[in-house]
Amino acid sequence: MVSCVGMRYIFPKRFLWGAATSAYQIEGSPLADGATPSTWHEFTHRRGTIEDGTNGDVACDHYRRFEEDIRSMRDLGLTAYRFSTGWARIFPEPGSVNPTGLDFYDRLVDSLLSSGIVPLVTIFHLEEPLWLSRMGGFTQRSSVDHLLDLGTTLMRRLGDRVKMWCTINEPSLYSFQGYGTAEYPPAHRFDLRGMFHCAHHLLLAHARLCDAFSTLVQDGMIGLAHYYVDVVAADPARAKDREAAVFMDELANRVVLLPLFSGSYPERVLHRMGRFFPRGFEKDLATMGGRGSYTGINYYRRNRYRYSFFTPFLHAEEHLEPSAPHTAMGDEIYPPGLFHVLMRLKGEFGNPPCMITENGPPIPDVPGQDPLDDTGRVSYMADHIAQLGRALQERSDCRGYFFWSLLDNFEWSKGLSMRCGLIHTDFATQKREWKKSAYWYRDLIKRGWLEHEASEVAEP
Ligand code: BGC
Repeated sequence: MVSCVGMRYIFPKRFLWGAATSAYQIEGSPLADGATPSTWHEFTHRRGTIEDGTNGDVACDHYRRFEEDIRSMRDLGLTAYRFSTGWARIFPEPGSVNPTGLDFYDRLVDSLLSSGIVPLVTIFHLEEPLWLSRMGGFTQRSSVDHLLDLGTTLMRRLGDRVKMWCTINEPSLYSFQGYGTAEYPPAHRFDLRGMFHCAHHLLLAHARLCDAFSTLVQDGMIGLAHYYVDVVAADPARAKDREAAVFMDELANRVVLLPLFSGSYPERVLHRMGRFFPRGFEKDLATMGGRGSYTGINYYRRNRYRYSFFTPFLHAEEHLEPSAPHTAMGDEIYPPGLFHVLMRLKGEFGNPPCMITENGPPIPDVPGQDPLDDTGRVSYMADHIAQLGRALQERSDCRGYFFWSLLDNFEWSKGLSMRCGLIHTDFATQKREWKKSAYWYRDLIKRGWLEHEASEVAEP
């Protein structure tokens, strides 16, 4: 339990302080040592897909520099590190393991452990092999078995040393950006069938991976990382806006949380969009509830909704409040949302063990300004971590916080210029330098307490 003296939040001794990354975003060398292309490799090499025209061919060159990066983690005092595995390194083709690809993660894990850092492995982080995508990706039921193959291979190889697992990063966002907005490969637009098939198969794969975990690893924790959106009505005084917000919350949050906890989908979503789910999904649902041992929350934003008669199915339209603070990627910054989600897990879902598996602001470089002087990132962290302290005080069972990200990396459709790291990466020289936020985080971890006000922010 956290103790609080004045506005000082004192965190539990065993609380995990980490940072997170993902394979394609940092590793580089995407085709090295027998790997085949991932969907992102193919996508970034298509003209016009990435805002600044960059790709992950080199990224942070972490595939070759991981030892150096682990030294930085150790110097930061991180107690845990969340990373993901490149599926097409390990399975360059369906059904055949590439030992060299697997060896890389083995060395990474050993090196983390010898630096006293707990590894948290994400099996699937927004990145599939091109061969899977050519078979229809997660819109096809066979994808569940392929992901299970990857997960069990990893658990067999690393499970003696890795006790913390994340099955899937952000099933809802992956489906939405891949089949709704076309921001991620396979870049379909308004393909509702694709979107719900993909989401359902990912959630089913999560349940299967949890089952595999209980025989292959046992003594550890497994969960998924949900992209949580704090959803509110644009005008809370308007009943229609409130209704729109309830629906959008079901679509953004409950569509993932309900299958996890109770093996069901939200009724309103089924009522309006049930026809887009795979046939026979009800039978799967019955086998999906109550599987993981913790819930991962990636928290970045609040969304406000207005009722809109003309938006098909949703009848809701996002409202951007100009007076509210936003990140460079357009996310409304709303630290109390982090407190709300932890309280919601407590109140609505029985206070399961949980972790903040991602949180952090993107801040692009501004010419003429020192990129290491990221005071904006420091206040973002303080504001959010104070809300976490506040939730712990209210007895949330939150066990850790993973900052996104350890170092500047390839930020998907925004490319290399959207910077999220504690550590600055010079992509031309691969020189790493600590930003102010890195020193701030190191000091926080060392102290174990944070003196900062965590308040409800007045509505703009
Ligand atoms: C994803 C990360 C991404 C981060 C910042 C999250 O939704 O899991 O891969 O880089 O957001 O945009």
